[in-house]
Amino acid sequence: MVSSAGKPVIGVIGGSGVYELDALADKRWQRVDSPFGAPSDELLFGSLDGVEMVFLPRHGRGHRIPPAEVNYRANIDALKRAGVTDIISVSACGSFEEELAPGTFVIVDQFIDRTIDRKKSFFGTGLVAHISMAHPVCPRLGDALEAAAQSLDIPVHRGGTYLAMEGPQFSSLAESRLYRSWDCQVIGMTNMPEAKLAREAEMCYATVAMVTDYDCWHPDHDAVEVATIIEVLMKNADNARSLVKTVVPELKQRDAACPGGCDHALDNALITAPDA
Ligand code: ADE
Repeated sequence: MVSSAGKPVIGVIGGSGVYELDALADKRWQRVDSPFGAPSDELLFGSLDGVEMVFLPRHGRGHRIPPAEVNYRANIDALKRAGVTDIISVSACGSFEEELAPGTFVIVDQFIDRTIDRKKSFFGTGLVAHISMAHPVCPRLGDALEAAAQSLDIPVHRGGTYLAMEGPQFSSLAESRLYRSWDCQVIGMTNMPEAKLAREAEMCYATVAMVTDYDCWHPDHDAVEVATIIEVLMKNADNARSLVKTVVPELKQRDAACPGGCDHALDNALITAPDA
């Protein structure tokens, strides 16, 4: 276990619209192999204000990989091998609340996982582990992201539940209403099992869920229109790049291990070794 006290290495997983981080110095794309298969793309190594950074476009450059086919295990494993301590996950999402209008950045603090066809653990037969997902988001990263968004005047909301759906189709009206009745605030297709795997890999993880649309529950938006989403998405992508530039220097140095325990999650996991 590597404690996240001391020098962090910040990983950014870019979602729809975020395929590169221009602001990085000494940029180089480099392949990182994983025993879990191929990550979505090469990793972009660089630095920002002296902080080491690694960027990975979740869907690959050119948006080639749909949400259910992203190799989440390979992505998280590759970032871990690259030395990443903290992951900022940037993703497009739909909104279930009138007040969370398109353009709002939601720093979610909970997830409901409704994905059904994805590999969700690094553990399995031979080595079983059960980690806690009670508090899936790193509070230190969440604090820093909220403050950075506020300083940039990006509309930001702290907290909320992200419903992770399988996709690639958007929700039916009945599903959209159901998730609202569950008190979910936003919906997307990619943050699970990403958040679970980051926790298993003992990495701090926080999501910036960038609202592109109201999903279909909203009376004035009775279908999710891709053209509208893309327009908002491009503006969100610009804001996301500014957010990363602003937040990373704030994460430069810290004296303590993660207050949420992300960096030693396995210490408290129930693990059954084969010959225990
Ligand atoms: N990503 C962006 N908008 C979405 C929506 N309405 N549902 C699921 N994923 C989304």
